[in-house]
Amino acid sequence: MNRRSLSLPTLDTEQLRSHVVEQLTLSRARSAMLTDSLDDADLVRQHSVLMSPLVWDLAHVGSQEELWLVRDVGGRQPTRPEIDGLYDAFQHSRSSRVNLPLLTPADTRQYVAEVRQKALDVLARSPLHGRRLVEDAFAFGMIVQHEQQHDETMLATHQLRLGAPVLHGEPLPSPLAPVAPAEVLVPAGVFTMGTSSEPWALDNERPAHRVELPAFVIDTTPVTNGQYAEFIAAGGYRDRRWWSEDGWRYQLAAGLEAPQFWQRDGGGQWWRRRFGVLEPVQPDVPVVHVCFHEAAAYAAWAGKRLPTEAEWEKAARWDPATGRSRRYPWGDDDPTPGHANLGQRHLTPAPVGAYPDGVSPLGVHQLIGDVWEWTSSGWHPYPGFEAFPYPEYSQVFFGGDYRVLRGGSFGTAPAAIRGTFRNWDHPIRRQIFAGFRCARDASPAEVRAGRVGG
Ligand code: AVJ
Ligand code: FE
Repeated sequence: MNRRSLSLPTLDTEQLRSHVVEQLTLSRARSAMLTDSLDDADLVRQHSVLMSPLVWDLAHVGSQEELWLVRDVGGRQPTRPEIDGLYDAFQHSRSSRVNLPLLTPADTRQYVAEVRQKALDVLARSPLHGRRLVEDAFAFGMIVQHEQQHDETMLATHQLRLGAPVLHGEPLPSPLAPVAPAEVLVPAGVFTMGTSSEPWALDNERPAHRVELPAFVIDTTPVTNGQYAEFIAAGGYRDRRWWSEDGWRYQLAAGLEAPQFWQRDGGGQWWRRRFGVLEPVQPDVPVVHVCFHEAAAYAAWAGKRLPTEAEWEKAARWDPATGRSRRYPWGDDDPTPGHANLGQRHLTPAPVGAYPDGVSPLGVHQLIGDVWEWTSSGWHPYPGFEAFPYPEYSQVFFGGDYRVLRGGSFGTAPAAIRGTFRNWDHPIRRQIFAGFRCARDASPAEVRAGRVGG
């Protein structure tokens, strides 16, 4: 059942419980698929210093569910208090988790199943009302999103893993005619950013607030592999002009010369390794596995810049017909497979133009799904931010060198993305499913004409 948040408060408690059960079941099926597809040696191995062993992610998902749903909402005794510390992300860095006395894969599966049984029992008894944590089943929605976020992280671990492929995607929608125009003008003015009404929105998406922006121009598609290959061929990685000071220093030290997982053959053709399969780089597909510095350098080379977070959200949510900010580029309905490339269905970004039903009123494509989009904005709270239900989700990361990413990727679940959703990561990270689109200031002539090229 697809449910619109605007009508969520009109659902009766039984319908809300069914929705929660459905979403919990979907996230667990995905976690199982990502872990049952590998043998025990692969589950306990560290595939990259940037990632946890997959068996840690699975137990951590159970541990958070136990903490919030069983203990806090349910008021029950801890299931296995002696393991709490092992699965606390703040006590152990990702690179050190492989050395902990972790539960075995079999014990982990048993633990998460036991916790899930208790959580479902708590759900059946909770009035889903009266306390902010359970109002509109928020805590359950938070745990659904938490598991789906770790599933996307586990998917990134699969991409880093060497060895025969174990995951398989469905065929992509057939490529469509090129998207035209390449960029659109977003007129100057105020729009509503963030939300105070989306029931399962996380603390950092709140509250709704008015933001005024000057007119700007934004690309109607993410930057493609073909476009990015032109930047490489033009010597973009060896040209100081396109890089920030930090970006230049980092990419030289790291020896970057192409997106992660790309390799060139003797004839100069680019190939990419994708979930264990080597395939030619597809020119019309959004580039993925680039860091913020690479995205910013490409934009500078193209005579553009990255959008700010506010610009991205206005392009994605603002409806010029009503002046209202909507939940998604296409409106208020939950995502379907026809709107956006989400949920690990295809295991790759889709060619630009593949989702005409997901286009925004201004004609911007693929804002949701395909690739997370780097923005130029740092990770900061909105005015009126309140940490809820714990500071370790968002608040402790504010400031620092993080950059905001928007829109979700092909590996993001529908339940874990919306027009207001905010992600963040260090500007050097490339193992996440991140790409970008470009933006620029509007020229005075364009502002007068009210359109691009005026
Ligand atoms: C929002 C994706 C940055 O994975 O670090 C998972 C989500 N928080 N467990 C992350 C999260 C706690 C978070 N990101
Ligand atoms: Fe977590």
